[in-house]
Amino acid sequence: MITVIANLKGGSGKSTVVFNLALWLQMKGQPVVAYDLDPQQTLLDVAEVRRDEGYAPALQVYPPRNSLVEDLNYHPDNVHVLVDVGAANIDAMKQAIKTSDQIIIPVPPSQPDVWATQRFMDIVEDAMHGQQLEQLPEMRAFVNRADTHRAVRESDDTEDAIKQIPGINLIPERLYQRTIFRRSLSEGMAVFEMSKRSKATEEFNKFASFIFPELA
Ligand SMILES: Nc1ncnc2c1ncn2[C@@H]1O[C@H](COP(=O)(O)OP(=O)(O)OP(=O)(O)O)[C@@H](O)[C@H]1O
Ligand SMILES: [Mg+2]
Repeated sequence: MITVIANLKGGSGKSTVVFNLALWLQMKGQPVVAYDLDPQQTLLDVAEVRRDEGYAPALQVYPPRNSLVEDLNYHPDNVHVLVDVGAANIDAMKQAIKTSDQIIIPVPPSQPDVWATQRFMDIVEDAMHGQQLEQLPEMRAFVNRADTHRAVRESDDTEDAIKQIPGINLIPERLYQRTIFRRSLSEGMAVFEMSKRSKATEEFNKFASFIFPELA
C-alpha cells in the first residue's frame, strides 16, 4: 500500500504527518517504510534523531533515488510505504503520485492553502495523464493546524472549499494547532508516545483510524 503525503505549499505538515503516521502504523504492528523525497530531508533528520535517542521501533527512511518508481513498487503489498514529497521536487512528486494507492493532502486553514490544493490537482492530472480512471489513487485532504478557538471560522471555510474541489474527498478529522506536534519532530517521538492523554494524541488517533479503519 503506497500512501503519498503531498501538497504544493511548504509547512502544511507533510513531514509531521508522515512521521507520526508511520509510527502509528508500526504501533499497530504494521510493517512500514518511508521515503523522504524533499531536499530538506526533514524526515531523514527526524528518523536519525529517533535512532540516536534509541527510541524503538526505529523508522526506516530512504532518500530519493533515480529508480524511484521501482523502489516504491519493490515492497510487498502488506508493507505500508509512506512518501513525503513537496514542491521542491515536482518530478519525484509526479512519479510518486503515479505509483500511489492513495494521496493524503494536509491543508492549513487559509485561502492560499486552498488555492495551492487546487493547483496541486493540476499536477495530479498531469501525472496521471493517459492513465485509466480506475488507476487513479484515492485523494483525500484534511485541515491541519486548525485553530483551537471555536470562534475562528477558517477551518470550516477550508473544509467547505475542499469539498468543492473535484476528485478530492474530505477527511473530516482535523488536526489542530498543538505545540506537541512541533516537539514531536524535534524530539524524534510521535505525539502519542510523548503523551498518551493529550488532545493531540486523541485527535491523531481519530485521524489515523479514519485513514486506516481496519487498524482502528
Ligand atoms: N498540527 C500541528 N500543530 C502544531 N504544529 C504543527 C502541526 N503540524 C505541523 N506543525 C509544525 O509546522 C511546521 C511545518 O510542519 P512540517 O515540517 O511537517 O511541514 P511540511 O509540509 O513537511 O513542510 P515543508 O514543505 O517545509 O517540508 C513544523 O514546525 C511542525 O512541527
Ligand atoms: Mg517537510
